[in-house]
Amino acid sequence: MSFLQWATSPWGQSVPIHIVWGLIWVAVIAGVFFMIVHSLYLIVVRPPKRFAERKAEVAARVPERIPRHTLAARLFHWVMAASMFALLITAFLPKVGIQFNWVLYHWIAGLVLTVSILFHIIHATFFLDFWSIWPDKTDLIDAKNRTLRFFGKDAPLPSKFAKYPLENKLYHGVVMLAGLAVILTGLLMMKRVETGIFVRNPYLFSDMTWGMMYVLHGLAGVGFIALTIMHVYMGVRPEKFPITKSMIFGWMSRDFYLEEHDTGRWAVKSGQPESNRGLASSDGD
Ligand code: HEM
Repeated sequence: MSFLQWATSPWGQSVPIHIVWGLIWVAVIAGVFFMIVHSLYLIVVRPPKRFAERKAEVAARVPERIPRHTLAARLFHWVMAASMFALLITAFLPKVGIQFNWVLYHWIAGLVLTVSILFHIIHATFFLDFWSIWPDKTDLIDAKNRTLRFFGKDAPLPSKFAKYPLENKLYHGVVMLAGLAVILTGLLMMKRVETGIFVRNPYLFSDMTWGMMYVLHGLAGVGFIALTIMHVYMGVRPEKFPITKSMIFGWMSRDFYLEEHDTGRWAVKSGQPESNRGLASSDGD
């Protein structure tokens, strides 16, 4: 079965026009499947959280509240989240039978997402710790050791996480690629509709190129259904709640920080005046 819808162009050429909308349900099922498998794994296997220990005296110098996300980073996150939900709702409700004038709301939400991502790129590159979200050598060594230990092999305990665990870094990478795909194709697709911003020009590309663009936009779009389900599920899991709370209030507790994070890989500055207490060296996104 093809996952594309095809049509015949005025020149008799067979061209793809959209993805098959049944893929919406494939993405929903993939997201729900992930939730079930992950929950069962935690209930049945109950993996103990064990990390290699660091020197205990560091704990004494850690403030009670560890700033994790600046106000600007939190505002970005929630604006992006709101635009993402608006995009998913406007894109997919009409496809499952709930009809309304979706295109207008969709591209407006698309522009909000685009501007928020532009802001994020500049903010993360020049004002935050840019490298904190990319896998490093320790992540890869730890991933290897975690896998070996999972299969009962002898391997050293992994170190605690830096600011972000490897799983979060990989998730960010996938979302970044899918996000760039929907934004770049979405901005070009605005040339096909009457927006009042760009002059409409449906002849800008050939039918084949437009078709491929709609397909890429649709594939990355349905990908976001599964990615969003996984993200929200993780955000509401009780053991992850301190992380979600930090995206609202900006900080996490010393206990949570010391339990999960390596004070060397995500260092908290010590010996600061009272007003700056808890400023972490990578205090951003
Ligand atoms: C997660 C984000 C997004 C999702 C899930 C999404 C989903 C979709 C879907 C499923 C379609 C229908 C495609 C088709 O008919 O084959 C569509 C169309 C469209 N989207 Fe998006 N999109 C997203 C982001 C964006 C962005 C960022 C923009 C603009 C900057 C945008 C602008 C458009 C436009 C202009 C159309 C074409 C409407 C038409 O030709 O009738 N989208 N989108």
